[in-house]
Amino acid sequence: MTQKTKILATRQFPQNVLDRLNRDYDATVNPSLDPMSRDEILTQSKGMDGIICDPTCLFDPELVAGLDDSVKIITTFSVGYDHLNVDAIKARGIALGNTPDVLTDATADIALLCMLGASRMAYSAGQALRRGDWTSWSPIEFLGTHISGKKLAILGMGRIGEAVARRAKGFDMQIHYHNRREVEARGLEDATYHAELDSLLAEAEFLSVNCPLTPETHHLIDETAITKMPDSAVLVNTARGPIIDDEAVINALKSGKLAAAGLDVFEGEPNYNKGYLELNNVFLLPHIGSATHETRDQMGFKCLDNLDAFFAGKPVPNPI
Ligand code: DGY
Repeated sequence: MTQKTKILATRQFPQNVLDRLNRDYDATVNPSLDPMSRDEILTQSKGMDGIICDPTCLFDPELVAGLDDSVKIITTFSVGYDHLNVDAIKARGIALGNTPDVLTDATADIALLCMLGASRMAYSAGQALRRGDWTSWSPIEFLGTHISGKKLAILGMGRIGEAVARRAKGFDMQIHYHNRREVEARGLEDATYHAELDSLLAEAEFLSVNCPLTPETHHLIDETAITKMPDSAVLVNTARGPIIDDEAVINALKSGKLAAAGLDVFEGEPNYNKGYLELNNVFLLPHIGSATHETRDQMGFKCLDNLDAFFAGKPVPNPI
């Protein structure tokens, strides 16, 4: 009997994914619901042919250097790969894969939820109801900002940025974007391209952050950037927490420079700047952009497709 290829799964992935993994591979799955520690990853990956990891695993050069020579491929259960030191992994000759496309719609939906939740004061209004503080319909309470007809500035016009733009057009928003290059996306011909970030910020009645986290985008939305936005703008971040400078955002939310913010991602998550909790004009979610049954199954299947192709001697279909 031929031995099955050994795979380490760093998390409890959706059952449909685990069923296929266990059917086709000799899998070791993290039994805990918590992320694996560095030591656990190093110990458990000994003798493994491949690893399915997740965005909570930091594969920095030190951890990569400690990986067993047996590990030939790492595929991350995410589209973002800022947790992986790609150079160090590639220098060890380890193949890399991720899960693009399948989480585009789910994440764009959450961007719209954050946009509406923030601009329509969903947090403070919902809290008032739950506390029993809703005493009557009022002409002047829980007033938010209309999104229809407003300018939406999209920072990063990749797949998710485009999907956010398409949805926002359904709300009659005017689309502006900044990207390394102009895109030719069907249905977005009337979107305005800004080669310079400052030019985008000047139009940003709503700003949706959709770019990857890189050394260049770290704290890109800081005090200086926020100052360039129109007064009473709304900020939405569904990409990666460290792209925004939390202290600057919190100060702007307090001063009213930003009317509201909708955030699904945080620097240092699952920890986050507790200053947000003192504010009524924020709508906060715990990084659930891709959290639908359909999407999470598809993400897992993409990881398995990457493994299947690699171990069959074919190119990884979703390479990093
Ligand atoms: C990703 O895939 O990068 C997401 O942030 C996980 O939801």
